[in-house]
Amino acid sequence: MFERLPVVVVGAGAMGRHWIRLLITNPHARPVGIVDLDLELASRVAREESVTDAVVGTSLAAVARDSGAAAVINVAVPAAHRSVNEQGLRLGLPVLCEKPLAPTLSDALRQVAVANVTGQLLMVSQSRRYFNHLAALRDVVGTLGPLGTVTQEFFHEDHEPGFREQMAHPLLVDMSIHHFDAMRYATGDEPVSVRCTSWNPPWSWYQGDASATAEFELRSGARFVYSGSRCAPGLPTSWNAAWRVQCERGAAVWDGDAQLTVDAGDLAPRVPEGVEELAGSVAAFAGAVRSGRTPENEVRSNVLSLAMVEAAVESSARGGERVIIADLLETAYAQAVQTETGDDISAELQSWGNAQAGISVGHWGATGGGTARRGSRG
Ligand SMILES: NC(=O)c1ccc[n+]([C@@H]2O[C@H](COP(=O)([O-])OP(=O)(O)OC[C@H]3O[C@@H](n4cnc5c(N)ncnc54)[C@H](O)[C@@H]3O)[C@@H](O)[C@H]2O)c1
Repeated sequence: MFERLPVVVVGAGAMGRHWIRLLITNPHARPVGIVDLDLELASRVAREESVTDAVVGTSLAAVARDSGAAAVINVAVPAAHRSVNEQGLRLGLPVLCEKPLAPTLSDALRQVAVANVTGQLLMVSQSRRYFNHLAALRDVVGTLGPLGTVTQEFFHEDHEPGFREQMAHPLLVDMSIHHFDAMRYATGDEPVSVRCTSWNPPWSWYQGDASATAEFELRSGARFVYSGSRCAPGLPTSWNAAWRVQCERGAAVWDGDAQLTVDAGDLAPRVPEGVEELAGSVAAFAGAVRSGRTPENEVRSNVLSLAMVEAAVESSARGGERVIIADLLETAYAQAVQTETGDDISAELQSWGNAQAGISVGHWGATGGGTARRGSRG
């Protein structure tokens, strides 16, 4: 039996509270510290969730020291992800960071560099990868031959006041990251380019674009067609989106919840019984920390999910023009090299020569003693 990993949760907002509640009884990790810029809020959450023995404060360094934490779970607002991740990694602690990793691709690449410099694990919590029916879909897709088309529809009437309602792209940046990342997970395919348009319906309660359609070209030549809205009253889809995957030897339809239908001879999906959502994410993280192996959502691998989002946003800004993801990555890399002020991070970035080299999967495994295992559920 292994020890539960003692963690500091940074960010005591809606999702931070959710994480703390989960960790109280989680077999892999336990909350020993809570950090928020709003001390009153952090103390209230500790009290209301009955984690009164947790150290509470506004400084990650002090709380980590006083609580004896061995890892950080970063649930702060996205704009603070980089600074919190960097603090945690520089304290010598592995970090599990809520999605989205960073507001920009350039910032994401710098975080890869910070992870390299510190030699610590930085993993992104893409908790919507951890659904048993998604794992079953992935297994099915793996047996149906070449991929033709993946479609996803996401429609929700989503009222979540706070940073989301002020964002320029609340759908693409805050929500579609889950769906794009899950597409990569389910198909094993990777994005090449995208054409996207986004807009804000007249009745929208968001300031930015709450609706979008996007068509991605994938490395295999297949297409991924996405349509979504966060301000869509009526007939909601699953939070995981509604999927159809068409391959050479058959098709699969997943409603995003518990309905997975396969039409491919007598092939029947086999649904595993793993832990799901946040519990799946923390199990993968703690497992990676214990074993030294590279988890599937390690920062390098996650950069491409974020690149899909940024490319979609960029395409929309250019009126739906085709945006090539490799080009966007190299532009982001040049920006990161140009603007980074930290000497060690700057030297690390420059040592890559290009973005593609920097995100080669398995680097942490190489420095951390493990091997890359892309595609496994941790
Ligand atoms: N995986 C999911 O399904 C899911 C669902 C909801 C939210 N999230 C993610 O969780 C994160 C937080 O979302 P939320 O809804 O809880 O937001 P929130 O605004 O309710 O809470 C964020 C908290 O972070 C704190 N904070 C900001 N900067 C900080 C800093 N530098 N150090 C410490 N604390 C800081 C704020 O004071 C606030 O209390 C976001 O990245 C969001 O995308 C993920």
